[in-house]
Amino acid sequence: MLERLQKIISAAGVTSRRASEELILAGRVTINGVVVTELGSKADPSTDTVAVDGKPLTIASKKLYILLYKPVGYMTTLDDPEGRPLVTDLLKEVGERVYPVGRLDYNTEGLLLLTSDGEWANQLMHPRHEVEKEYHVRVRGKVHKSQLDQLAGGVEIEGRKTAPAKVSIIKEGEQNDWFSIAIHEGRNRQVRRMCETVSLAVVRLRRVRYGMLSLGALKPGEFRFLTEAEVSGLRDPHLKNTAITPKAPASNKTAASARTSQRSGPAAKPAHPASSGRRASSPKKNGPSGKR
Ligand code: URA
Repeated sequence: MLERLQKIISAAGVTSRRASEELILAGRVTINGVVVTELGSKADPSTDTVAVDGKPLTIASKKLYILLYKPVGYMTTLDDPEGRPLVTDLLKEVGERVYPVGRLDYNTEGLLLLTSDGEWANQLMHPRHEVEKEYHVRVRGKVHKSQLDQLAGGVEIEGRKTAPAKVSIIKEGEQNDWFSIAIHEGRNRQVRRMCETVSLAVVRLRRVRYGMLSLGALKPGEFRFLTEAEVSGLRDPHLKNTAITPKAPASNKTAASARTSQRSGPAAKPAHPASSGRRASSPKKNGPSGKR
């Protein structure tokens, strides 16, 4: 299928679409050995050889796997009758349709996976798969041990008891306490409803981990591509819930200058040909300096 040259170059992980246009204009791109300087040019990546500076591009995979720090005030649906911001608004530069793996409430922030690989998403969301999700919860006032014990043992929501959860207190403050809860079910508004049953008023809810993946140093509205090891690791029964700590992201860099993954090490090969370590545009709310 014919595709615009800049899309092919960016999909191969060379650089962003905008920077690809500059490469084309500079005469550094060839299609089947012929220099092309017209921005409207198209090629078929499955039959044509596109090269930048003489180096042919390789398209490793067409599937996209993204880890986004969803800010508060974004919908995880693909459209909203009320016109509220959508998480996909934060991923426009990706240039392809991706779908959220499960959902986070409008007022919940944190780790959200999005992908174009429906089979992978379904596997992760299947209850049998039991991927552990960890949330940090800020509550109004104090959280008592008896409440945490109830949450850990399971509470009844909609006539069905929740599975055992891992809970621990993170921080006690004058006005608010923070605690962590790790669950592997994915019932609608589960953490908020669990808290309601033990009379805890949630004032902030952040998902910090999804299986082996953590938010790391991403800030609200930022995203990165998963590595191949992460994509397969989430499906691996032995690895999927073993948290790994990513290194600090190459923040404030453009797609062109931040080509390495935000994780480092031998397994940090992006699962998509486009480079990882990109940033979405600034979130509309809840800037990165928000107090936690
Ligand atoms: N639990 C909730 O209550 N809300 C979310 O967004 C995710 C888990």
